[in-house]
Amino acid sequence: MDERLLRELELLPVARLYGLATPAAREPAPLPAAPREPAAVAEAPRRVPTPARQAPPSPAPAAPVVAPPAGVEAMDWEALRAAVRDCRRCGLCEQRKQAVFGVGSPTGPWLFVGEGPGAEEDDRGEPFVGQAGRLLDGMLAALRLARGREVYIANVVKCRPPGNRVPTPGEAAACAAWLDRQVELVAPRVIVALGKTAATRLTGSEGSLAGLRGRVHAYRGIPLVVTYHPAYLLRNLPDKAKAWEDLLFARRTLAESAARP
Ligand code: URA
Repeated sequence: MDERLLRELELLPVARLYGLATPAAREPAPLPAAPREPAAVAEAPRRVPTPARQAPPSPAPAAPVVAPPAGVEAMDWEALRAAVRDCRRCGLCEQRKQAVFGVGSPTGPWLFVGEGPGAEEDDRGEPFVGQAGRLLDGMLAALRLARGREVYIANVVKCRPPGNRVPTPGEAAACAAWLDRQVELVAPRVIVALGKTAATRLTGSEGSLAGLRGRVHAYRGIPLVVTYHPAYLLRNLPDKAKAWEDLLFARRTLAESAARP
């Protein structure tokens, strides 16, 4: 683990706690600052269980079901990218500069799913290139990962919601077939849902993010772990420690899933 990075991310104490960084020279590593959760997600801190514990089945998705675009199930990367570029399946296409497809290793084994492009992503055509993306890159680097190196990054919706609002269930449903085809093509060994929109879309549960963390869900048979969105972490620094725990949990989940035939 890169200790300089962990320090920059304010994750060094937690990494030490997990034996992932060398202990502090003199004193035991301090515990991370007491978590401050917003009222809506307040919950007693709890241990992250082992990956063997599977989540109970999620309730049926609340999102509307929208007919998939013709032929999507047979699209290769090139055809899929072109279809997403030209997509007009919901109103988000009206104000976008461009659709933001996805980036990274086309064969995983990690797949990170965010919410939707913001202004910088809309400008540049790549997910997570703004401030939140820089935090995500830092956390990946601390795990010795990078976009394009074992990691694919995609979003629930491919076009920027005006004013960076949360995408509606209808918009997420209209975009669902694109993400699902990305999941099929990447065939990841683990999926990490970043934030509530991705967690709701992929677990089909309307439960709080805090309630969905810390257990292994499944999306189309692929292990799925839920964590905080990097943009949320920029505003709620103490929860970075929990996000770091989630990433370590995802890494263990991946190791278990890779050990299976
Ligand atoms: N937030 C997201 O959820 N996705 C991005 O691509 C950028 C910010």
